[in-house]
Amino acid sequence: MSLMRTITVGLTGAAGIYGGLVLYREYYVAAQYKGDEQLFGKTAIVTGANTGIGKEVAHDFARRGARVIMACRDMKKCEETREKLVADSFNTNIVCRECDLASIESIKKFADEINKNEKYVHLLINNAGVMWHSSKLTKDGFEQHLGVNYLGHFLLTNLLMEKLRTCSPSRVVNVTSSMYKRGVIDFDDLNMSKKQFNAKIAYEQAALAIVIATQEFCRQYPGSGVVANCVHPGITRTEIARHTIDKSFISRVIIGPLLKAFMKTPMQGAQAVIQCALDPKLDGQCGKYFSDMKEEPIAPNATDEKEAKRLWLISQRWTRLV
Ligand SMILES: NC(=O)c1ccc[n+]([C@@H]2O[C@H](COP(=O)([O-])OP(=O)(O)OC[C@H]3O[C@@H](n4cnc5c(N)ncnc54)[C@H](OP(=O)(O)O)[C@@H]3O)[C@@H](O)[C@H]2O)c1
Repeated sequence: MSLMRTITVGLTGAAGIYGGLVLYREYYVAAQYKGDEQLFGKTAIVTGANTGIGKEVAHDFARRGARVIMACRDMKKCEETREKLVADSFNTNIVCRECDLASIESIKKFADEINKNEKYVHLLINNAGVMWHSSKLTKDGFEQHLGVNYLGHFLLTNLLMEKLRTCSPSRVVNVTSSMYKRGVIDFDDLNMSKKQFNAKIAYEQAALAIVIATQEFCRQYPGSGVVANCVHPGITRTEIARHTIDKSFISRVIIGPLLKAFMKTPMQGAQAVIQCALDPKLDGQCGKYFSDMKEEPIAPNATDEKEAKRLWLISQRWTRLV
């Protein structure tokens, strides 16, 4: 009897703590973007829009009346999500377009199609990404994190620049991670082929490259009417851990649900991205870094202008932009 009571008290206590954490997340961790900007007549591209944070950003834009272009690599997944978004937002102006950020050819094809067939692009949300992926290379031989998270979006942004410029004021939002602060750009081995591959270091390097290049973008395109800023969405329970903890059954079934209590939902994670895309207070702001919806000073490892220029030139060459 006393064992039963102990178990009951234990379980009740655990449930209480779990509930408390969920409430803490709801009320303290996750702020919501309150702006009521409408996007009728505006076009937004969201990469990786079939799931996670990208899906919620696409949903929000659709509800505000935008034409939403979901740039995804898997057309089946994209179409399934598109149908849900259309049903939820009552906006039929949502389309799927193929864009595999691990392939220069695919990115160029996507950008050509947009430049030829779309009248406007006002918002470009560079959201797609991989985390702690094994060392597989992209189709062009780039380390996967650098290739998808950074170089793919670098190329895409530059290829869409004329369209964005003609639609100015327009905004680019680069989704990165606060892990950039621990990152180092290893110019001697950007592709991590000489040293032992470490997925965490690769993710940090790519996140840092995004922050550095976002600032360089503002120096490369001054007065263009196109601004770029970067955002850390906060720790969010999405499919991002599919290459790490979600691979193991135990983690998926036990650790995952426990961690959920501390993490934002995808909708909450999307708020910082939405704010950066729409907040009128950010008009004309370029090269800034936002974390959990607050602007933060950029860490010293991401502020060297010479390093930024060097990275920009290498990125141009590697993506065959020049
Ligand atoms: N979740 C977090 O805690 C967190 C924290 C900091 C930063 N971030 C950043 O937030 C962004 C969104 O991540 P998420 O959490 O929403 O992750 P997610 O649920 O895994 O979504 C990632 C998206 O990127 C797409 N993607 C991956 N590789 C691609 C490729 N080669 N070409 C085109 N699309 C590709 C995925 O498409 P498929 O479904 O086809 O694979 C998916 O749509 C990422 O940039 C991530 O680094 C997330």
